[in-house]
Amino acid sequence: MVSCGLNLSAILILLFFARFVEQAAALRQPSVAINASIDLDLLPWTYHIPNRVQNRTSHARFDIQTPSRTLSLETLLSLDAPQIDVVNASVFDWWYFDAVSDADPGDSLVVTFFTSSAAAFPFLSANESSVLIAYLWASFANGTVFADFIPATVATVVGGTSNVSSTGQWASSGFSWASRQSNLSQYAITINSKEMQVDGRFTLTSRAPLHLPCGIQEGTTTLEIAPHIGWANLVPEATGMVDLTIHGSPLRFQGPGYHDKNWSDRPFMESVRSWYWGHGRLGPYSLVWFSYLALNDPTNATYVSSYVAKDGQAIVSSCNTSLLEVRPVGRVGTTGGRYPPHVGDVPEGFRLQFDLGTEGLLKVNVSAGTVVAGDGEYYMRWTGNMTGTIMKSESGQQDACAAGGTKAPPVSQPSLLAGVAAFEQFAPVE
Ligand SMILES: *[C@@H]1O[C@H](CO)[C@@H](O)[C@H](O)[C@H]1NC(C)=O
Ligand SMILES: *[C@@H]1O[C@H](CO)[C@@H](O)[C@H](O)[C@H]1NC(C)=O
Ligand SMILES: *[C@@H]1O[C@H](CO)[C@@H](O)[C@H](O)[C@H]1NC(C)=O
Ligand SMILES: *[C@@H]1O[C@H](CO)[C@@H](O)[C@H](O)[C@H]1NC(C)=O
Ligand SMILES: *[C@@H]1O[C@H](CO)[C@@H](O)[C@H](O)[C@H]1NC(C)=O
Ligand SMILES: *[C@@H]1O[C@H](CO)[C@@H](O)[C@H](O)[C@H]1NC(C)=O
Ligand SMILES: *[C@@H]1O[C@H](CO)[C@@H](O)[C@H](O)[C@H]1NC(C)=O
Ligand SMILES: *[C@@H]1O[C@H](CO)[C@@H](O)[C@H](O)[C@H]1NC(C)=O
Ligand SMILES: *[C@@H]1O[C@H](CO)[C@@H](O)[C@H](O)[C@H]1NC(C)=O
Ligand SMILES: *[C@@H]1O[C@H](CO)[C@@H](O)[C@H](O)[C@H]1NC(C)=O
Ligand SMILES: *[C@@H]1O[C@H](CO)[C@@H](O)[C@H](O)[C@H]1NC(C)=O
Ligand SMILES: *[C@@H]1O[C@H](CO)[C@@H](O)[C@H](O)[C@H]1NC(C)=O
Repeated sequence: MVSCGLNLSAILILLFFARFVEQAAALRQPSVAINASIDLDLLPWTYHIPNRVQNRTSHARFDIQTPSRTLSLETLLSLDAPQIDVVNASVFDWWYFDAVSDADPGDSLVVTFFTSSAAAFPFLSANESSVLIAYLWASFANGTVFADFIPATVATVVGGTSNVSSTGQWASSGFSWASRQSNLSQYAITINSKEMQVDGRFTLTSRAPLHLPCGIQEGTTTLEIAPHIGWANLVPEATGMVDLTIHGSPLRFQGPGYHDKNWSDRPFMESVRSWYWGHGRLGPYSLVWFSYLALNDPTNATYVSSYVAKDGQAIVSSCNTSLLEVRPVGRVGTTGGRYPPHVGDVPEGFRLQFDLGTEGLLKVNVSAGTVVAGDGEYYMRWTGNMTGTIMKSESGQQDACAAGGTKAPPVSQPSLLAGVAAFEQFAPVE
């Protein structure tokens, strides 16, 4: 069932509470957590995360309290705080920001603030002793790709104060993010690194309400998108504006942007059998997809998370496996279209099918344009074009949205929608 009604009420509550954040924050005492032990429920917060791996048990937060199916402002803001209390060698937590140009998806940018060792997330450099890594991937329309990272000496993550909803500074790296909007609807990522020769700013202005793995449930809402994988998609779609200079070359564009964070209490490679994720804008729709198989899962369950907003209103935010299908498409004579995928399977795109309830079925072709990151075997990230059509459902089908009073739309000729996307595949099994 599409959970549109629930999310609309959540948004209204957020808008309502946003006005009171300044007063609320002013009434609380700032708290400074002891470095290696973070209280996940304090607001406002200041976390200093040390750069060395800690030799202690770590705890991850995988749910939040949501009485009456709403998010309090306090809970909303806490989603951008660290979600693990200790960065030991087998856990990870990171903040991810990206944007892709709507004029040419070849222009794109990703900035990730990691708190992880390579033992926990093997796509980081094994030679790096700092667990605090600021990573940048940029692609230019002519096909040139730039990727580099820089370790930090300490990370400071602050949030929930009257002037700062969320900020992170990876000290000595020149990378930071900040959100000053009380509802986290705007972020600025600032990069000023002589060492990396990258300078400039990247801003996100949200166009759609947040997305949690299964939407919001009454009582307790899960943040666990699949076993041991935490996920909070605070900005499913934004207007991204990039203005950077990278080794003397300007990278300037505008297009769909995105912010999420993910975390786990065990190494990535102990969890993942296959992983497809992506986001983009397609006509009036903002899309986020996730489809996943867990490693050594005797039940062979598929985990999905589907998010669709239309003109900035969420119409699907769900982990119901019958609402989304993601399948690779391969070139003839290759294993690119094999599902589930194995190491080295390189698709040329993906086929997506979103069930929008009364709005019909949204069928999407995603085509892999530029390879932005990855090793071509275990992990790949692309940007590219999307096309899609809405196949209207037969009239008279009841669902949550229809029950809320919305009339079924009239049946019409499917029109071709177009847009751009950023997406990825992990296929770590031989
Ligand atoms: C999942 O969605 C399908 C199709 O809308 C619906 O029939 C089914 O009841 C939903 N399952 C759950 C657990 O909500
Ligand atoms: C926590 O880390 C900060 C920054 O590195 C440091 O100044 C402070 O002394 C540390 N506090 C404790 C209690 O270790
Ligand atoms: C980690 O802590 C345990 C128990 O205190 C100790 O036995 C072990 O040697 C420590 N490991 C490292 C790498 O410091
Ligand atoms: C790190 O934390 C995880 C999750 O609690 C735990 O499984 C692991 O044993 C911890 N590692 C160390 C070295 O304590
Ligand atoms: C890691 O260090 C080794 C030895 O110094 C070097 O050969 C290797 O290229 C380095 N790997 C990376 C990814 O930097
Ligand atoms: C927020 O306000 C505090 C206290 O008034 C001040 O110390 C701090 O510099 C401000 N932070 C930003 C980012 O403006
Ligand atoms: C967040 O707050 C801003 C400013 O108050 C408002 O314009 C915007 O609609 C809000 N966004 C969301 C997603 O609630
Ligand atoms: C592509 O564009 C970038 C940025 O302008 C430039 O640095 C690079 O040299 C170009 N590459 C090629 C192959 O033309
Ligand atoms: C998790 O992290 C990946 C890799 O950085 C990121 O691209 C993606 O947005 C995140 N997705 C989920 C579902 O956790
Ligand atoms: C596991 O599930 C996927 C998705 O439903 C299916 O394509 C695949 O064949 C299944 N694999 C096994 C071994 O059952
Ligand atoms: C994306 O679509 C645009 C407009 O149709 C087209 O000009 C461009 O070549 C496409 N890019 C890629 C990488 O397919
Ligand atoms: C997607 O690709 C398939 C196979 O090439 C094609 O039949 C279909 O028309 C395409 N759909 C859209 C919406 O582009």
